[in-house]
Amino acid sequence: MFIRNAWYVVAWDFEVLADTVLERTVLGESIVVYRKADGEPVVMENRCCHRGAPLSLGRKEGDCIRCMYHGMKFDASGRCVEVPGQTLIPPKAKVRTYPVVQRTRWIWVWMGDPAHADPATIADTFSIQHPKWRTKPGYKHFGANVLLICDNLLDFSHLAYVHEKTFGGSSAIAEVRHEVTKLDHGIRIVRKVPDTVPAPYHQRLGHFPGRVNRWFDYTLSVTGMFIMTAGVQSVDRAWDDPDGALVFHSCQALTPETADATHYFFSHANNFALDDATVTEASYQSVAAAFEEDMRMIQAQAKVLARDPDRPLVPIAADLALTQYRAMVVEALAAEIEARRNV
Ligand code: FES
Ligand SMILES: [Fe+2]
Repeated sequence: MFIRNAWYVVAWDFEVLADTVLERTVLGESIVVYRKADGEPVVMENRCCHRGAPLSLGRKEGDCIRCMYHGMKFDASGRCVEVPGQTLIPPKAKVRTYPVVQRTRWIWVWMGDPAHADPATIADTFSIQHPKWRTKPGYKHFGANVLLICDNLLDFSHLAYVHEKTFGGSSAIAEVRHEVTKLDHGIRIVRKVPDTVPAPYHQRLGHFPGRVNRWFDYTLSVTGMFIMTAGVQSVDRAWDDPDGALVFHSCQALTPETADATHYFFSHANNFALDDATVTEASYQSVAAAFEEDMRMIQAQAKVLARDPDRPLVPIAADLALTQYRAMVVEALAAEIEARRNV
């Protein structure tokens, strides 16, 4: 069961070109994404109302899509506008469409009640497309339930172990205390790691003569939107001294595909060395490698848990944020179900 009244990232902008009809499964529903002639994206259910053929095998015609089984044509609102061989269009001949918005370089879809789809509530992912930041689009497909990935994001102590050779560098990250704050629709975490060794990828990107201070400040919404500012600075400088610091702004969107699989869209932008594309590439490669490390662990964990899902787990102090987060998700789901019942 997923929260439906939320904006989920369904694709990067470049995945949907002028003639593309992209099929993707979101919250267990197969949908198609294409663009109208003016470039505006359209999201439709992937099922023709006639005999159930997938519209992903259809053909784009201007703002419309034609089912390539028996040729019925649907406009961007999902209304059938042509039935080959007859002039009368059955009034029920329509397919479901979903509210959709392109913001920065992400295409966002609203899978819930269209009446509540307010684009003003879309997360601010400015660093994906900003003159002062550089990034490279990222995507991974995780074979695990979205909550196992949220658990991972809510407990950075795993950096010291899962990412020993990429993000970690020292067990100090697991040992420091972190501040956890409950927000209206998610959790904020601030973790400061003083006087530590730079991570291997910081050594590659920065030129720190010795030890460093590291910090992470991020929020994870109940619908899997992760926004983080993270930095590293030489230990002999102030924490907030921008001179020589490496600062990253990370946008990561977890979009449930099914109960057992998750789309992971990510951008890990840097605001230094703006004219050196190799820095952004190196940063991307480090992050992508780290996410492979996460994926390996989380997918293996999912398999173990699936063997005996009701067996109790033993909580430790590091679980504070994920315990609070999971309770918030349960609460948000219950509120949505209640609201649906009252309609
Ligand atoms: S199934 Fe689409 S037109 Fe027949
Ligand atoms: Fe990780």
